Amino acid sequence: MSTSVKITVLVDTESFDENLAKEHGFSAWIETEDRHILFDTGQIGGMLSNAQRLNIDLKQADTLVLSHGHFDHTGQIPQFLALNDHARIYCCYNLDITRYSCKIGTAPRSIGMPEASRQALSDISSNRICELGTPRYLTPEIGLTGPVPRNSPLEDTGGPFFLDDHRGVDDLIEDDQSMWFETDKGLLILLGCCHAGLVNTVEYIKQISGIDRIHGIIGGMHLVNADEARLQYTFDNMKRWKPDILIPCHCTGATPVARMIEAIGSDIVKWGCSGYTVKA
Ligand SMILES: [Fe+2]
Ligand SMILES: [Fe+2]
Repeated sequence: MSTSVKITVLVDTESFDENLAKEHGFSAWIETEDRHILFDTGQIGGMLSNAQRLNIDLKQADTLVLSHGHFDHTGQIPQFLALNDHARIYCCYNLDITRYSCKIGTAPRSIGMPEASRQALSDISSNRICELGTPRYLTPEIGLTGPVPRNSPLEDTGGPFFLDDHRGVDDLIEDDQSMWFETDKGLLILLGCCHAGLVNTVEYIKQISGIDRIHGIIGGMHLVNADEARLQYTFDNMKRWKPDILIPCHCTGATPVARMIEAIGSDIVKWGCSGYTVKA
C-alpha cells in the first residue's frame, strides 16, 4: 500500500514570494487522498495569512500534528482551534513543559509553548488529544515517530536548550517527533526542527516502516550550530540514503544549507520557504 501526498510549507523562516509571509517558525499543510493534516502552527500568524492566500482551508484539517513544544511551532494553536472544532491532535508527552534557551553572554529566553496555547489545549476535550510515547500510524501509509531514540554520538538537540534558566538541566527535547508518508517513490519525511538529529530520525523511520528507499526529506534540520564532524556525518548519510529531493527549511541554517548544496548537489537540495510544495 502507498499513498500520494502533497506537502505545502504554510510558513517558514524564509519566503521568496513577497505575497507570502515569513516568520521565525514552521508549519506545513498535508493533503493525501483522504486526509488533511496541519503539521505545526508557526509562531505569529503567517500560517493563517498564507493559508488564505494559498486557498488552504484549515477548517478541513482532520488532524493537527505538533512536532515539539517550542514557541515557533505552537504559537498559533489557539487561532487554529478557534477555526477548527474537530481535528485530533497528536503530540508527544511533555510537549508543554517550561523550557529555555540559555546562550552564554545573553539573557536566558523562555522558548516553550506560549501560555495561550497551553490554555487553548486544556480548554478542549481531552478526547481530541493523543499523546505519544511510541510510534503511531495514522493510516497504513502515514506514520508519526513519537519520541526518537538518540543513538548517534555526533547528534545533539542543536542548541543551548535547558529546562531551567541557569543552564542546570539539559532539555533533551524528548517530545521532538517527525512524520513520514509511504509513497510509490519511497519515504517522504516531514520534520519540525528535528532536535532528535536527522540521522537518528531517518534511521528510526526506516526501521519502523521497513522501507529503505528515501524519496525526500522536508523541514527544519536544525544544523545551524552543527560542528564540522556532525555536518560531514549528516552529509555522508544523505549520500548513502540517495534521496531524490532534500528541502531544508526553517532552523537548518543558511551556511549548513549552502554546505549541503555543495556536498549533495543543487539538483537534489532545494532551500525550502513559505509556499514551497512537494508532491509524491
Ligand atoms: Fe523551530
Ligand atoms: Fe525547535
